[in-house]
Amino acid sequence: MTPGRGAARARGPLVAGERVLLVDRKDRRYLVRLVAGGTFQSHAGVVEHDALIGADDGSEHVARQRDGRTGPGRRFLVLRPTLSDLVLKMPRGAQVIYPKDLGAILMAGDIFPGARVLEAGVGSGALSMTLIGAGADLVGYEIRPDFAARALANVVDALGPDTGYRVEERDIYEGIAATDLDRVVLDLPEPWRVVAHAAAALAPGGILLSYLPTINQTAELRARLEHGGFGFAETFEVLRRTWHVEGRSVRPDHRMVAHTGFITTARRISARWHEEPAAASGTAEEPEPEPVEALDGSDAGGELSSAR
Ligand SMILES: C[S@@+](CC[C@H](N)C(=O)[O-])C[C@H]1O[C@@H](n2cnc3c(N)ncnc32)[C@H](O)[C@@H]1O
Repeated sequence: MTPGRGAARARGPLVAGERVLLVDRKDRRYLVRLVAGGTFQSHAGVVEHDALIGADDGSEHVARQRDGRTGPGRRFLVLRPTLSDLVLKMPRGAQVIYPKDLGAILMAGDIFPGARVLEAGVGSGALSMTLIGAGADLVGYEIRPDFAARALANVVDALGPDTGYRVEERDIYEGIAATDLDRVVLDLPEPWRVVAHAAAALAPGGILLSYLPTINQTAELRARLEHGGFGFAETFEVLRRTWHVEGRSVRPDHRMVAHTGFITTARRISARWHEEPAAASGTAEEPEPEPVEALDGSDAGGELSSAR
């Protein structure tokens, strides 16, 4: 693997070849690649790409009506898409992980620049582009060649051709070819079948992260992790509730995405950690030490105290 190369984002005026979002007054969003001489046509009229090339990110443009007239209600904003925009708008093969969970995965999986990460399955590449954006040196395993091609194309579209991203057509249940990995990140139906392979492929202290839609699957994974050379297992979900803020009407939005998936992480640790201390060392278990309290009343560095 080569060191992680998150792609630089474009700045300055818009240029031919890049993708932009056109947003109308009703917040309908269209993802368009700018081509010299090209046109974008919708119910709201026609926008010439040449008018957008050289324009500022966030600038407003008036569409030409099909009969040549212009008028109110035919305006568009042109914006460079964020990573979230791309994930929601890009062509999909498999179901993608949504942005609310992608952000949490970066932190829970402790993805850092240069981290050696193996991801399976890559599906449409939404998680791949997020991991690469955070600087991971990423190899993906994907069992379906059509999805592997889709993920590659989406990553190149979003981040360019020089990220070092590679997708191998493999069934990860049969094993992991790499060793000394920092992270193994899974979005597939039976991650418990990967636990033994991940334990062998991860460097000591490495992290396994799995994303699963149901709690039954999550429980099966957690059971396997308990006996698989992992510790510090944790499972959580992300609930994101947006708010309506307009004048005096300030309240939670009526609708939200109630459920997407469960994120589970665990660290590769010494197998002896879970052994009975007496059996491991031949000595009786040490007595629990008294809790340490700092003299000035502040947190002494242990668990967060409930008094805070
Ligand atoms: C839900 S999709 C992943 C979506 C992806 N995380 C994204 O955000 O775009 C699950 C993928 O796992 C792949 N898959 C299932 N079992 C696999 C296996 N044993 N080895 C490799 N890939 C597998 C499927 O083909 C599918 O593309």
